[in-house]
Amino acid sequence: MKLDDVADDLEEILLTEDAIHERIAELSREIEKDYAGERLLLVGVLKGAVMVMADLARELKLPINMDWMAVSSYGSGTQSSGVVRILKDLDSDLTGRRVLIVEDIIDSGLTLSWLLANLQSRGAASVDILALLRKPDAAKVDVPVRYVGFDIPNKFVVGYGLDYAERYRNLRGVGVLAPHVYA
Ligand code: XMP
Ligand code: MG
Repeated sequence: MKLDDVADDLEEILLTEDAIHERIAELSREIEKDYAGERLLLVGVLKGAVMVMADLARELKLPINMDWMAVSSYGSGTQSSGVVRILKDLDSDLTGRRVLIVEDIIDSGLTLSWLLANLQSRGAASVDILALLRKPDAAKVDVPVRYVGFDIPNKFVVGYGLDYAERYRNLRGVGVLAPHVYA
């Protein structure tokens, strides 16, 4: 679905499909240099990272494996608490692997900092993070994100995997949700 198809639900268009694809291509060239000659394990965080994982994996000229994790942040309201529960664990053994966590967005950074520590404790050769989007709050927690697609304003965004109440994940671009949708 295109951003135009839900124009009334969006306050602003942040990223078009073309802009996202262009940036993923740029990041892929960096990743190809950084992991030349190695086999990378991409770990996607369900469900938001599905789109960025699919596009990144197909853009990369590297032998890769893909695996998936689903986690949920406990806590009341919309803020993540940093207490994370694994809903679906990896199928892969991480021993000696070069791992790249693929995330849709880093907001407070609490989820990713927990995930990073968790995967690092499994004997991987390296664990790095790619986040398509980063909000300014992320700077408050020290999460080393190696690859960032876009820094965005501190607004609730949907599309390209990101949802509001499980809607809008299938938008080809990213937009700011209009307040009337959740009011
Ligand atoms: P942290 O722990 O970094 O949480 O605060 C990141 C997770 O919060 C969700 N999130 C969003 N989801 N639009 C969304 O659809 C947003 O603007 C947004 N900001 C944060 C998301 O699940 C992410 O993995
Ligand atoms: Mg997510």
